[in-house]
Amino acid sequence: MHKNLTTDNIRRLFLDFFKEKGHAVLPSASLIPENDPTVLFTTAGMQPLVPYLLGQDHPMGKRLANAQKCLRTDDIDEVGDNRHLTFFEMLGNWSLGDYFKEESIQWSYELLTNEKWLAMDPERLYVSVFEGDADAPRDDDSINMWQAQFAVHGMAAEVGQPGIDWPTGETHGKRIFPYPKKNNWWGPAGQTGPCGPDTEIYYDTRREHDPAFGDICHPACDCGRFVEIWNNVFMQYNKRDDGSYEPLAQRNVDTGMGLERMAAVLQGCATVFDTDKMQNIIQVLKQVFGLDYGQTDDQDKAIRIIADHLRAVVFLIGDVRGVVPSNIGQGYIVRRLIRRSVREAKRLGVEVLITPAVCQAVIEQYKDEYTELEQNAAKILNEVKKEEEKFNLTLEKGLKEFDKMAEQAPKISGEQAFVLYATYGFPIELTEELAKERGGSVDRGVFEEEFKKHQALSRTASAGTFKGGLADHTEQTTKLHTATHLLHQALRSVLGTHVEQRGSNITEQRLRFDFTHGQKMTDQEKDQVEAMVNAIIKRDLPVIKEEMSVEQAKEKGAIGLFESKYGEKVSVYTVLDTENPAGYYSKEICGGPHVARTGELGGFKISKEEAVSAGVRRIKAVLG
Ligand code: ALA
Repeated sequence: MHKNLTTDNIRRLFLDFFKEKGHAVLPSASLIPENDPTVLFTTAGMQPLVPYLLGQDHPMGKRLANAQKCLRTDDIDEVGDNRHLTFFEMLGNWSLGDYFKEESIQWSYELLTNEKWLAMDPERLYVSVFEGDADAPRDDDSINMWQAQFAVHGMAAEVGQPGIDWPTGETHGKRIFPYPKKNNWWGPAGQTGPCGPDTEIYYDTRREHDPAFGDICHPACDCGRFVEIWNNVFMQYNKRDDGSYEPLAQRNVDTGMGLERMAAVLQGCATVFDTDKMQNIIQVLKQVFGLDYGQTDDQDKAIRIIADHLRAVVFLIGDVRGVVPSNIGQGYIVRRLIRRSVREAKRLGVEVLITPAVCQAVIEQYKDEYTELEQNAAKILNEVKKEEEKFNLTLEKGLKEFDKMAEQAPKISGEQAFVLYATYGFPIELTEELAKERGGSVDRGVFEEEFKKHQALSRTASAGTFKGGLADHTEQTTKLHTATHLLHQALRSVLGTHVEQRGSNITEQRLRFDFTHGQKMTDQEKDQVEAMVNAIIKRDLPVIKEEMSVEQAKEKGAIGLFESKYGEKVSVYTVLDTENPAGYYSKEICGGPHVARTGELGGFKISKEEAVSAGVRRIKAVLG
């Protein structure tokens, strides 16, 4: 194993390696996607590069690499186990129509095993490939190329069947495992456009296989013996409207390596929380707050949640497009992460403010690589302190209230959960956790209905009724959010379905919407769009929210970007319209929230229409 593989060293080696192979190293893009309001956060290194993967020229060339700040909230409840995190750094390299499988696989192998680089034992490495189906054949190219690489070390690397063949270690044996699309295909599911097979590289920890996950272990087994360290995606197909796959003219490579997982593997750690940077953060929890780590599972889990969540919070507030705690969108996630950390700290008996010291430690760990954190240090520390103090005030009262409710019945009603939310600032997830701890549950469906109803009512309610809850600016931005959906659909109706969202930004005063369209809109077109949006507002149509997989969303005709992986759940907002043959006026994948009825928007007016770049126009609009 390579000497002294700190997290910083691994990042540097990765980027130096690809620099040597002719790649331009890009800075990390913002954690908050600028041109994609359908996802709250940047979740993969490829996300900010989508236009270039689709063929646009990148100013830095055809070979790119970087370390990208990423945040995924879908695994938020798993945080605290050995490998899940909300925030993480993804190392990646890209070929935009330049090299393809051969170089990609060769370089992956070289970086991982060469003494000069990461110097891993090749006998610990296993790979998965796409097994083939009716859409595309088995990825034999990758199989052959992997075999050529393992042969460098005199290893045979045979193909094995998951669940049938043991991944036998040593020099000979099963090392390459084919899997279906679910495991080894990457690309926004259900969406038309570039996608393709991937090959994932796994590290064998040589821990005992856990038979609870099946008789025979294999690389993609969930028992934890094999850790996925790197994914190479080969975008070689274009998925067409009719569901068929045609070979793509520009073939791309998109890879992703989770830095924290890689550090855990290279530093011989059982969990990502035992790696150098995480330990330095946890050290503060031990020294400043006197907490024990490594004594009990429950305590360790709480400490990991605090370290993970506050690390994410530092990067979110400290971002160039930083977000502060609020009740909407990204700000809601920041609030939720801070509040959960504070609550975990309280559970461990901490009675003083915890967030500033821990966040300071996070800044120290990352300030050299991410200079924005030091520049925004005062803001970060101020925001977390404010939020913690605010939460402390309501938490005590709210907990008493919750206990009263839970004593009556373990199942907390949606109305009760809403009282806890609106009066005591309890995020619904917190109420759910508390209920779960006591063996109960929460009626989330009713909570969400209540939420919508009160958003409508809060226009006339006095602000005092909603104390920690819905602030005025939240209502206004929520309305503008819904107006954006109406505008999007109106543009598609008036200008054509070539109109696609490119960006969106909402302030309290106005919405801003960027979309694809070749020329300036005429006055008549603007009038038509305004009239259509106002007609929908006047008809006071209901807006509903549903959760479904991205495939289902696409099937149902939802618009919006399909960034998610197969099977991931997304929220779809629909403006129902029984007079429309489709049954709705607009259906869009979106994080929300939205108003309950379009009538709440009042009136809609376009204030500006202008060019952003070639083929992209921008509309600013107001409500009133
Ligand atoms: N985009 C690929 C991933 O996130 C590399 O796994």
